[in-house]
Amino acid sequence: VKAAQPAEKSEMNGATRAKTGPVMKVLYGSNSGSSQDFASQVEAAAGRSGFQSSLHSMNQGVSEELLVPDGRLVIIVTSTYNGMPPDNAGKFKKWLQTQKPDSLQGLKYAVFGVGNSQWHTYQQFPREVDAALNSLGGARLCDLGACDVDGASFTSDFEDWLSNLLQTIGAAESTDHDEGLTGIDEFVVATHADGVKIMKEPGIVLAAIKEGKEAAAKALGLTEPVDTHLKALEIVESPRELYQKPQDRSVRHVTLRLPTGSKYRAGDHLEMLPPNDPALISMTMEALNFNKDAVVCWDPAKRQKKFRNLVLEETVWAKMPAMYITVSVVMQWFPDLASTPDRKICGLLAERVTSAEAKEELQSLAKDAEKYKAKVSSLNLSLAELLYKFKGQFNCSLGEFVAIAKSLAIRRYSVSSSPSAPGADPNVVTITVGQVKFTTGTGRVHHGLASTCLGQLPVGGCIPGNVRTLQSDFHLPEDKSAPIIMVGPGTGLAPMMGFLQEREALLKKKEKLGEAILFFGCRARDADYLYEKELEAHLKSGALSTLHVAFSREAGQKVYVQDKIWEQRAEVWRVLSNPKSMVFICGDARAMAPDVKRSFQRVIESCGGRSTSTAANLLASMVEAGAQLRESGW
Ligand code: 2AM
Repeated sequence: VKAAQPAEKSEMNGATRAKTGPVMKVLYGSNSGSSQDFASQVEAAAGRSGFQSSLHSMNQGVSEELLVPDGRLVIIVTSTYNGMPPDNAGKFKKWLQTQKPDSLQGLKYAVFGVGNSQWHTYQQFPREVDAALNSLGGARLCDLGACDVDGASFTSDFEDWLSNLLQTIGAAESTDHDEGLTGIDEFVVATHADGVKIMKEPGIVLAAIKEGKEAAAKALGLTEPVDTHLKALEIVESPRELYQKPQDRSVRHVTLRLPTGSKYRAGDHLEMLPPNDPALISMTMEALNFNKDAVVCWDPAKRQKKFRNLVLEETVWAKMPAMYITVSVVMQWFPDLASTPDRKICGLLAERVTSAEAKEELQSLAKDAEKYKAKVSSLNLSLAELLYKFKGQFNCSLGEFVAIAKSLAIRRYSVSSSPSAPGADPNVVTITVGQVKFTTGTGRVHHGLASTCLGQLPVGGCIPGNVRTLQSDFHLPEDKSAPIIMVGPGTGLAPMMGFLQEREALLKKKEKLGEAILFFGCRARDADYLYEKELEAHLKSGALSTLHVAFSREAGQKVYVQDKIWEQRAEVWRVLSNPKSMVFICGDARAMAPDVKRSFQRVIESCGGRSTSTAANLLASMVEAGAQLRESGW
């Protein structure tokens, strides 16, 4: 229910038709939230055209029988993770597999897939869902849509598909960029007439979290220990530099305490929400003419759940009324000021500038793909920099701005520890954090938000976040006697360190372990050899059977992990030909992982005496649903 600023809302969104049209169920399968965002745009757009649209996860779709074929429309937006359904779509997949032929006659549907073409499993699950609904008798409203997180037209591909869908179902909207701007009522300029309860301090929770748990408890006015409510990762000891030589790059070993009650396994990820870069915040405030001390009333119920889940327990949010916070806190935690604005954002900003030239320039960026590429995307121009170009020419409220901007993205790291490691505190995890730092096309030095924040926090300081087990099941095999091959160059070594710690614990319990072979890669032994001592100790104990290190900058010629795999092909083939074996690859999914898989394929061809196509099929079957080969980003 959008209560605040009703006049502004209706002006912004145009007349809304009464929702008396056909029923439309919009389902999403989403781990990181992109698919959910897109699905909510479908629901909102259809709703504005009078459809009785509603939004649900794909799993809810099954339990609430939202797919009953009574002529209703079902629109699905989903991603895939290692070819598998996202966490909230697993039940849906099982349900699909148990349906009788023609059971969905009468259902009209459309599927849109969100994916990253760096992965070999790009669009696998969306494709499966689209094909299965069709073979069960459902009628496709439009072709399977797709967008690529790694591509240049991520948002516009979705928008094109959506407008095609809306046309097909007779719900076409005007292409005015203002249509669909939702959430502008999350922040309301504070006046006491709002009748909103004033919380203890402005700036509360979020700002306080960075100061530590005690400050957060005080800000929240909590009497019970804040630990039970706060979803935050606390720095336990000063981060340790892992590079041997000081250089322009850096990788740190960061030790964090999980929120109370959280459990993790080696191979899991940490999710976290770092605040914006203060330099970009200042630029944005100046460009938009915002006063950092101005106070707005914030309704946390309007913020997406994925944000809330990383900060506080939902039960605490549920009790929390709207509160006053400063504009600078909003700027720290909500809009992503470093991300490159897409063409839609340029169009929305064009509607909120006072000068005709600025409007024309922004509109041309929105409409002219070549110009947009030359002036924005190829330069990695940040939103803050784009705004700054038109400094002082905006007439944009805080609520509008936050609704227009992308939300700050959640960052993920593989944990590099195991809770069962001998002597370990099961509530403390380590991650292996490469400092992200590069110069953009505009000459701005970009400092990665999470790596910078983690490097600067004091001991006891916190970052909103939690642990997460994804469905890809990047975990040691259940069968302890299964041999494993681990490939992790650079910080891709992180999860393998967790596996090795876990194997140490199993050895202590006198478990009989299968052999473990590790391929690690770095530039030079005396420069960036991560965890050298720890690896030596694992070799000594037997937790690690064999270690092959590819040094890329020691000899005249580059040696990479894939070269080492080929060099060690007899050993690799011996392990691969054991049907219980499991291969883990972690790191750069764009270049390294495909090269590594090609190397495995060559080994199968050459040592296994298979033809190229048979070897490719064999490798594909290993990869299929993570049966024998599993991959993870960092
Ligand atoms: P380079 O930087 O010398 O090219 C960790 O980053 C290691 O991975 C480095 O030794 C790096 O080598 C190497 N690396 C870079 N690109 C790679 C690729 N496509 N495949 C495998 N290793 C790669």
